[in-house]
Amino acid sequence: LGGAKLIVVANREPYIHRYKDGEVEWIRPAGGLTTALDPVMQACGGVWVAHGSGDADRAVTDASGRVGVPPDDPNYVLRRVWLSKDDEEGYYYGTANSMLWPLCHQVFARPVFDQIHWETYRKVNETFAEAVLEEAQGGPALVFVQDYHFALLPRLLKAARPDLVVAQFWHIPWPGPEKFLVCPWARELLDGMLGNDLFGFHTQNDCNNFLECVDRALECRIDRERFAVQRSGQVTTVRPFPISVDPELAQEYLGDDWEDRANAMRKKHRLGDRALIVGVDRVDYTKGIPERLQAVDRLLQKHPELKGQFHFLQVGAPSRTHIPAYRDLTEEVNMLAERINWEHGTEDWQPVVFLNEHHGPDDIFVLYRASAGCVVSSLHDGMNLVAKEFVTARDDDRGVLVLSQFTGAARELPDAVIVNPFDVEEMADGLYASLTMPAQEQERRMRRMRAQVDDHNIYRWAGVLLSAIGKLIPDTSEVL
Ligand code: G6P
Repeated sequence: LGGAKLIVVANREPYIHRYKDGEVEWIRPAGGLTTALDPVMQACGGVWVAHGSGDADRAVTDASGRVGVPPDDPNYVLRRVWLSKDDEEGYYYGTANSMLWPLCHQVFARPVFDQIHWETYRKVNETFAEAVLEEAQGGPALVFVQDYHFALLPRLLKAARPDLVVAQFWHIPWPGPEKFLVCPWARELLDGMLGNDLFGFHTQNDCNNFLECVDRALECRIDRERFAVQRSGQVTTVRPFPISVDPELAQEYLGDDWEDRANAMRKKHRLGDRALIVGVDRVDYTKGIPERLQAVDRLLQKHPELKGQFHFLQVGAPSRTHIPAYRDLTEEVNMLAERINWEHGTEDWQPVVFLNEHHGPDDIFVLYRASAGCVVSSLHDGMNLVAKEFVTARDDDRGVLVLSQFTGAARELPDAVIVNPFDVEEMADGLYASLTMPAQEQERRMRRMRAQVDDHNIYRWAGVLLSAIGKLIPDTSEVL
C-alpha cells in the first residue's frame, strides 16, 4: 500500500458484542462479506469502519467508537459508527435492503422506493464519510468501501479529500439498464459510485451491465477497451474480482475434535448416523430455500427407498427480520418443512431439520465436514461463499456440492453438480446425486474444486485488487 493507511468501510461489523446472561460475549455475524474480509484485515492491519450493531458494542469501545479486534487477539481497529433507530430504518432496512437488494437481485421481490428512506441513506452515507475522514487525517490513505450500503460515499470522500485513493467492491449482482433505471435515484447512485478510482464486481457480466447503465443515465466518457468511465474529472476503472475465502480457516474451525462435536450435534438434533445434506444460509428470499425444500419433497416421492436414510439439515440464520418479505419467508420455510415432515416422516424420522438460529463457524464447518452433500440453490447470487467454504472443509476429498447455476461460484466450480434451482426435477436429481455419487467421482470432483479455491483464495483476491488500485493511481490522467 506504499505507506497508505488501509480503511475498509462496510455496514456490517466483523465482530458483534452482545449481552448474554448479563455477560458481554462476541459473535461473528452470518454473511459472506465479513467472512471474506476479516482475514484480509488481519493480514494487512488498518481500520474497519462499520455500524455498531450489538447491544454491548458501546460497552467495549473507547469514546470515538474504536475497539481492537479480533477480540481475543487484536491486530486491527474496528471503528463503530452509531446509528439511530430511524437511521437504521431508512438506510439499512429501507434503501439498502428494501430497495437496492431486490433491485440488484431481480428475484421477484418488488423494490420499495421511499423518499424518506432515501434521504436517510444519503444522511448515513454522510455520517460514514465524517468517520472515514477522521480516520484518514494526517496522511495518505486507501479507503476500500464495501457494498450497496455506500453508493454515495466515494463521491463524498473525493469531494472532501481528492488525494484519497478510493475503491469499492459491490458484493451483489448488478442488473441491466432496463431493470436498474426504474430507480428514481439511479443517476445519483451511479454518480456517487463514480467517485471511486476503482470499482469491482464479481463477474464481467456485472461490469457490462453497470457500464450500460452509466452510458444510458449519465453524461460521461466510456472507454470500453479499458473498462473506464470519466466523469467530472474523475476516472473510474470497472473490473471483475471474484471474491473467495481463506482455505486454511477450515482446519482451524474443525480442530482435532470435529468428530466429537459432530456426534454431539447429531445427538442434539436426533440425526442418528444417517446421511446429511446440509444447507447454510441467511434466511433470505434470494437463496432459494423453499425451492430446495420442494426438491427434498420431490426426491422422496421419486425415491421412497430413501425414507429414513437421510436428513436435510437447513441452517437458516435469521436475517433482516424487520422487513416483511424476510418474516414471510421464515414462516413459509417453517410451514414447508412441517408439511414435508408430516407427509414423509415417521415417528422416529423427520426428513427436514430447520435450525432457525445463529450458528458460529465452529458449528458450520463441522456440519460441512460431516455431510454427504451441501446445497446452494440461490435464485441469483453475486458469488456465494458457502459453496467455497464447503469445499475447503473437505480435506477428505468427499462430499458433493449441489450448486445453482445462478451464482458467481458456479463459473469457478464446474465440478459441482450444477442445477437450475427453478427446476424441481433437476434439483431433486441433484440431491439424489449427493446421496449416491460413487466415492471415486466425488474424489475427482472435490480435488479439482479444492485446488481451485486453494489457488484463488481471499488473499489472492485482495492482492489482485490492491495491486490494480496501485497501478491505476499514477497514470489515471492518461487512461482516457
Ligand atoms: C450479503 C451482503 C453483505 C451483508 C451480508 C449479510 O452478503 O452483500 O453486505 O453483510 O449479506 O447481511 P446483513 O444485512 O446481515 O449484513
